[in-house]
Amino acid sequence: MRRLVINNQKGGSGKTTCAVNIAAGLAEKGKKVLLVDLDPGASATIWLLGIEKANTDKDLFDLESGYEIITELAQPTNTRGLDILPFVPIKNKNSKQFKEYPNRSQILKNKFRDFPENIYDYIILDCGPGLNLTTINALAASNELLIPVPTQSLSLYGVISLLETVESVQVKINPDLHITGILACRVDPNLRHNMEVLELLVERFGVLVYNTYIREDVKLAECPSFNQTIFEYDPKSVGANDFRSLVNEIIDKEKS
Ligand SMILES: Nc1ncnc2c1ncn2[C@@H]1O[C@H](COP(=O)(O)OP(=O)(O)O)[C@@H](O)[C@H]1O
Ligand SMILES: [Mg+2]
Repeated sequence: MRRLVINNQKGGSGKTTCAVNIAAGLAEKGKKVLLVDLDPGASATIWLLGIEKANTDKDLFDLESGYEIITELAQPTNTRGLDILPFVPIKNKNSKQFKEYPNRSQILKNKFRDFPENIYDYIILDCGPGLNLTTINALAASNELLIPVPTQSLSLYGVISLLETVESVQVKINPDLHITGILACRVDPNLRHNMEVLELLVERFGVLVYNTYIREDVKLAECPSFNQTIFEYDPKSVGANDFRSLVNEIIDKEKS
């Protein structure tokens, strides 16, 4: 079971677009996938389920419950093989018990520890902006990190600060975490600046940069409003093709 977190601390960097369409693309390839929405904005949940399904009394971060809470909260989507764990607010965040819990950055990791291997092939975690306890939990619970980098402006600084966070997570809580890939996204191949940023990424991060880049495609921006993935909304679009090619690269890494 690969646990892949999509993170870049900047908001609007394409995290949710990638998380939803990578998860859906993997499911289209026959994989069993759970998308975990950890963004307080619940954008992946609203995208796939609509706004009304996002409510629950349960708490994913409840210290009393085990891994079963994950399967209990997961809901099927319109894509066969793709379930989503809707965003669930941390209900006991301010309680004394939670504050005093020594491993509060590892609550999710502990839940996945006993999670049966055969339910899902992939767990994809979508994070909100910024670095908070939920994001640290996501980094702690994953073994692979995919960093989407929009190429409209040079945002290497954000990537480098994320790498520092990853290093400290690796040392302190999760030695299994590694960067699985850096993904150039929102690329307009006709704009020289975009291609220069892409070249710079390759120069700086080498083989960590996926061969596939995600081009700017209005269809990708439209499909959430229809509660559809790009593969449902327009399977022949540029965006669908790019995500298909990316998913093949991700699956190729199963062998390594
Ligand atoms: N390749 C793309 N082409 C066109 N629009 C995109 C693309 N990637 C993301 N967007 C749009 O950019 C905005 C931010 O993307 P989003 O995935 O929500 O970022 P984040 O989750 O990092 O906040 C959204 O409106 C989304 O539809
Ligand atoms: Mg998002």
